[in-house]
Amino acid sequence: MYILGFESSCDETAVALIERGEKNCVIDEQIKSQIPLHAKYGGIVPEIASRNHYEVIDHLTTLVLKNAGLTIDDIGLIALTRGPGLIGPLLVGLSFAKGLAFSNNIPIVGVDHIAAHIESAFIENPGIRYPLAALVVSGGHTTLFYQESKFETEIIAKTRDDAVGEVMDKIAKFFGLGYPGGPVIDRMYGDGDPKRFRFTSPRMSDGSNDFSFSGYKTAVIRHPEVVGGIRVGEQVFGDLISSFLYSVVNYLLGKARAAVEERGVKSIILSGGVSRNTLLRERFSEVFGGSEGDVRFYVPSPRFCTDNAAMVAWLGYERYCAFPGDDFFDLSLNVYSRALFKSRKKHR
Ligand code: KG4
Ligand code: ZN
Repeated sequence: MYILGFESSCDETAVALIERGEKNCVIDEQIKSQIPLHAKYGGIVPEIASRNHYEVIDHLTTLVLKNAGLTIDDIGLIALTRGPGLIGPLLVGLSFAKGLAFSNNIPIVGVDHIAAHIESAFIENPGIRYPLAALVVSGGHTTLFYQESKFETEIIAKTRDDAVGEVMDKIAKFFGLGYPGGPVIDRMYGDGDPKRFRFTSPRMSDGSNDFSFSGYKTAVIRHPEVVGGIRVGEQVFGDLISSFLYSVVNYLLGKARAAVEERGVKSIILSGGVSRNTLLRERFSEVFGGSEGDVRFYVPSPRFCTDNAAMVAWLGYERYCAFPGDDFFDLSLNVYSRALFKSRKKHR
């Protein structure tokens, strides 16, 4: 079956065409990043984002079908991101997908963006075993999940304030390093001494497992060296940024390690935009990637870490197969802005 997937929750318009069933592969994907449009504002401007999704989604769809040598008549399922994300951009994707589905009588399935980030690891690794732990680190989310099976998802820990990518973006904005900040900080890491400065990992006073990242942001931008007037480009600045990244990576690793031990999982997945980070990937591979022990570590290729529509189509197909009783022609399908997985209870 050929599946067309749409992702438009934030600042990337992505359209992917995948094949599932006998063959399981991504045939083509076109992604239009809006980073240059938002860069001068140091963050995403929702209205500009909606407008740009609207301007490019039709063209990207035509291109994907053309590259695959297929037409809309070959498509057996349409999948789209329902949320969480920016409402305007999500509505553009939803309306376009619904229009295509309705006018061509194709079933349509909505998926959760965060669940799709977890699913992204399965594109290249079909044999991932359950139960699993998944750490989704992105610009909007930092959540550690436990999955008994694909549609039984529980939260182990989530951020109480900023997401880890958001903190990198905010630090980069503060120092005028550019947007998004994650890739800039990634590149700076090798040039600094990561052990020069120490940052204490936050602990929740109520004893919960949750994450907190806003303290890291304050610790960096109010660091005595910064207050004292260090400048971007100086060695000490590179040391500060490297020390910050080193500490954040160890913090994430510690949480993941505890979850693996406590929950007795068979697999650990690292995904989301921040999982492109070189140090994070290296450290997780070092700790979980050894041949000893029962736990296997998976991180998607970089192109499946940041927002993409292949992961959406992949999960859409899984939903379609797992819940045959659902009405996949129901056009009352809607979007949502806030995280679906909020509590610790299990979600479908
Ligand atoms: O998953 P994603 O594309 O969008 C959201 O759902 O948020 O993640 C975007 C985030 C941004 O905060 C960006 O700074 C971060 O991923 N990011 C990175 C790297 N590449 C992107 N963070 C650290 N290192 C990177 N190489
Ligand atoms: Zn994302």
